[in-house]
This record gives sequence, structure tokens and C-alpha cells, in this order.
Amino acid sequence: MSEISNLKAGLIADINAADTLDALEALRVGAMGKNGVVTGLLKTLGPMSPEERLEKGPPIQDLRESVTAALADRKAALEQAALDAKLAAEKIDMTLPAGIGPQGSVHPVSQVMDELAEIFADLGFSVATGPEIEDDWHNFTALNIPETHPARAMHDTFYFPDAEGKKMLLRTHTSPVQIRTMMSGEPPIRIIAPGRVYRSDSDATHTPMFHQIEGLVIDKGITLGHLKWTLETFLKAFFERDDIVLRLRPSYFPFTEPSVEVDVGYTLTNGQRVIGGDGDAPGGGWLEVLGSGMVNRRVIEACGLDPDEWQGFAFGTGVDRLAMLKYGMNDLRAFFDGDLRWLKHYGFSALDVPTLSGGVGA
Ligand code: PHE
Repeated sequence: MSEISNLKAGLIADINAADTLDALEALRVGAMGKNGVVTGLLKTLGPMSPEERLEKGPPIQDLRESVTAALADRKAALEQAALDAKLAAEKIDMTLPAGIGPQGSVHPVSQVMDELAEIFADLGFSVATGPEIEDDWHNFTALNIPETHPARAMHDTFYFPDAEGKKMLLRTHTSPVQIRTMMSGEPPIRIIAPGRVYRSDSDATHTPMFHQIEGLVIDKGITLGHLKWTLETFLKAFFERDDIVLRLRPSYFPFTEPSVEVDVGYTLTNGQRVIGGDGDAPGGGWLEVLGSGMVNRRVIEACGLDPDEWQGFAFGTGVDRLAMLKYGMNDLRAFFDGDLRWLKHYGFSALDVPTLSGGVGA
């Protein structure tokens, strides 16, 4: 009897003194393994008479249970200690100063998009998005450009192979976001929609993929005056000059009526063309920056709204072009070359987030 309790005390002391999981495993095998001491004692119960087993069984069972429990406890304790040690070793001191500052730069297109979002947010516009893979209904038909309309040919569209009777394409402008916004929400609407657009075209001022930003306002009693004020306010904020002069020229877009193309005046300053001032001044001129107009009532109707109740204006402009005018690049293709020297020269600091209060112009 005392032999078994001595054995138990000895085994438990050894188990509690094991300082590695390997040492503990060796002890487990020695006690509970196929040839272990405890296993051996358990085996002696088999041939015993019921009376003898009644007497000798309980201490042996107690030994087995105690040793099993001690092994489990010690194993848990060693595993916890190992985890604690690992966590302590892998700790990083976040308060240490970084060895190097942020690398890379923000692309001028991203920067200008952020600037535009900031300017229009201040005017109460929110940002809307739509898919770059569009169907021809959103890109053309709902915008009053039916199948046979010559404007479809003007867009040099990239079409996908026909699928399930739906004509899919890469959107040629951000105007389909007008349709999606009018169909999914209730007026009044005030959104801008920046994003990528695609046309099969390529030279110094055209790339097959470029960026536009769309603006749409739908409300009651909206007039051309609201449009002009909005564009003037936006261009003054964007070019950070109060002397921005706009020239509105009658134009044609199927989705606006009337349509106006907007030019911004530039003047010669020290022999340099600078945006601002009256373009009709000597040496000055006009640069086309925007297409716009009052939303055609047929478009409002196509979106399920009553054009006698709701009116609005829309505008669209090239983000890359705005970036070129503001920051002085002259080849659009370099925007998409990924040349690190170009990015270093024209890029913006990641920490230089445009804000109206800080000046959106970097
Ligand atoms: N979607 C036209 C374009 O890509 C621009 C535009 C937008 C014109 C909204 C008027 C109104 O040329």
C-alpha cells in the first residue's frame, strides 16, 4: 500500500519538476506508456480474484488518475510558459522612432481626385461610383444615344463579345453613373463620380484609359445659372485663383439640352501661359476644360423621374487634363508609364492630404 503511495508521490514530484515538454513526455511514457510502471500495475488487476481486486484496485486506480491529472496540469503550465516566452520575445516597441520615413508618392491623378472630392464635398456633393464594365443601355441608350446615333461612333468604344443578348463594353465616359444614381436614389441629388474611362485612342493627349469626373445635380427649379456658379466656384478653388474667367460656348451632347462647353481663360505671365484672367487679353487664350449642360428631359424620363418636376445640370471633365493644366505636365502618356523618376518629380507626399483649409493645391 505505502509502496503505491510512495510511487505516486515520487511520480508527481518528478512530473512537477519537469521543465520541458520533452522531459514531461518521457515521464508520461515511463508511467503510462505500454511498458510504464502504472500500466504494469493496472495489468496486475486482471488475474486477481474479485475480493483481492476490491482491496487492491482502488489505490491503483487512484494512482492512475492522479498521475494522469498531474501530467495534464504540468503540460498546460509548460505550454502557457512557452507561449508567454514567445510573446515576450516577439514584442515590438511601437513607440520607437521609424528608421525611414514613408517611401513612394501619391500619383497626380489620385491627388487631383482627392482635391476635387474635397472641393465638391464642401459644396454638398457626395461621391458616387459605377462599374467600368458597363452595358450599352447605361452607357448610351439611357443617355439619349440610341443605337443608330452618330455619337456612338464618336466614342471609339471597346466592346466585349456579345453575352446573353446584353452588349457589354468598357464605359466611354462617367455619364452612366448619372443614370445609375438617378435610378437607385431619390432626388434631390448632388454627386460627383470620378473614375476610369476607356476609348480606343492613343497619342500625346489621348490614352486608351483615362480619368473623368462627372457631376450631377437634380432638384426642383435648377437653372443654367446654378451650373455656371458651381463650375466657377469649383475652378476657382481648384486652380486657387480668384481671377478665373469662364467662357461658355453652345455645344451638343445628346444627354444635355442645352449643352455648353466651358473654356477657362489663360494669360501670359513672364512669357508663361498661366490659368486665370481674361483669355481675350493680348497673348492670352482659352482652354476647353469641361462639357456640361442641363440634363435632357429624355434622360430624366428614362430614369423613371418626372421631368416636369425634376430638373438639373451635369458636367464632365478629364481628371488627367486638369492635372496637366494645374501641375504642368505636357505628355499624358507618361502618367501611365510607372516611371519612378516621373513619379518622384510629379508625385505628392502621402502625408500631404488636400484640405480646403490647408489649400488644395499642395
Ligand atoms: N460625357 C461627356 C464626355 O465624355 C461629358 C459631359 C458630361 C458632357 C456631362 C455634358 C454633361 O465627353
